Amino acid sequence: MSILLQRLAPDADGLAAAAQVLRDGALVAFPTETVYGLGADARNDAAVAGIFAAKARPSFNPLIVHVADIAMARRYVTFNDVAERLAAAFWPGALTLVLPLRADAGIAPLVTAGLPTLAVRVPDHPVGQGLLAAFDGPIAAPSANPSGRISPTTAAHVATGLGGRIGALIEGGASGVGVESTIVSCATPPKLLRAGGVPQEALEACLGTALTRDETPERVIAPGQLESHYAPNAKLRLNAAMAAPDEVLLGFGPVDATFNLSPAGDVIEAAAKLFEMLHRMDAAGVPKIAVSPIPEVGLGRAINDRLRRAAADR
Ligand code: TXA
Ligand code: MG
Repeated sequence: MSILLQRLAPDADGLAAAAQVLRDGALVAFPTETVYGLGADARNDAAVAGIFAAKARPSFNPLIVHVADIAMARRYVTFNDVAERLAAAFWPGALTLVLPLRADAGIAPLVTAGLPTLAVRVPDHPVGQGLLAAFDGPIAAPSANPSGRISPTTAAHVATGLGGRIGALIEGGASGVGVESTIVSCATPPKLLRAGGVPQEALEACLGTALTRDETPERVIAPGQLESHYAPNAKLRLNAAMAAPDEVLLGFGPVDATFNLSPAGDVIEAAAKLFEMLHRMDAAGVPKIAVSPIPEVGLGRAINDRLRRAAADR
C-alpha cells in the first residue's frame, strides 16, 4: 500500500497537522538531535504496529518512547536513584533510560515487546519538543529508516528510505548529534546497552562508577544490537591506513580523502557526519569503503560501534 507522503514545515501549522496525523493512528517522521524518528502514538497498538510494518522491523524489538520532560516520563516508568541522577544531568538529550514499566502506564504492549521495562527519552530538539507539545502524549519512535539500513540524519534520507510508507514527514534540517542515543539500563548495577550520543565517560563521571556493557540483555534482541545493522550497500573495511585501488576511503583526521568525517580529527564532528557520508557514498554507488581508524574515546565509541555493525557479514 502506498500512502501519499505529507511533507510538513517545522512551524506551528506543521506541528498541529503532524499531531493530528498521530491522533489518527498514522506515522509521523520527525527530527531529533540524534537521528530522525518514526513516531506513532505509544498508546495505540495498531499505530505502533504500523511502525514495524513500515520499517519491516522484527516485532520482538522494543521501541523507545519519547516524552516532553521528566514529569511526563514518571507517568510511564518508575524512577530510581540512578535514573534521577542521569535524567537530571542529561535530559533533554541523547540518553535513553530503561526503567520498570508502570502497571498503569497505558503503553501499547507492542512498544515493550512484552518486557516489564520501558525505554524513555526526552529529545533535545525544538521540533521533537514541539511535536510532543502539540500531541500532548507519549510518542514511540525508532529511527526512521528501513530495518537494518543506515539511520537517517536528514529529511531527504527519510523520504528516500520510507517515502511511500508513512503518513507525514516534518522537514527540520539535519540532526546535530548524528548517532542514536546512548541506552542505559537503570537496573542494579546500571548497564550500558548501546553506545550513543552521550559518551560513556560522561555517564560514569555523573554516577561516580564504571558502567558495565551488556550488549545482549536477556530476552531483548535489539536492532542496534544485531550484528549487521546500519548497513550501507557498500562493503566496509575498518581501521584502514589507506584505501586499496578498488576502495574509496572514508577518512578521519589529516588523510587525503574526498569523504572525510573530520579532517581535524574531532569525534563529535565525525559522529554528526557519519550517516550522511554513508548515505552519500551509497548514492554515489561506491562498492567498497575503507575507513580510517577512529579513536575509541567519547563519541568515537558510538561511531566504532555503528561501523563494526555496518561492516558485519550479512
Ligand atoms: O536516538 C535515538 O535513540 C533514536 C531517536 C529517534 O530517538 N531512536 C532509536 O530507536 O534509535 P531504535 O528503535 O532504532 O533503537 C531503540 C533501541 C533498540 O536497540 C531497542 O532494542 C532498545 O532501544 N530498547 C527499547 N526498549 C528496551 C527495553 N525495554 N530494554 C532494553 N532495550 C530496549
Ligand atoms: Mg535504529
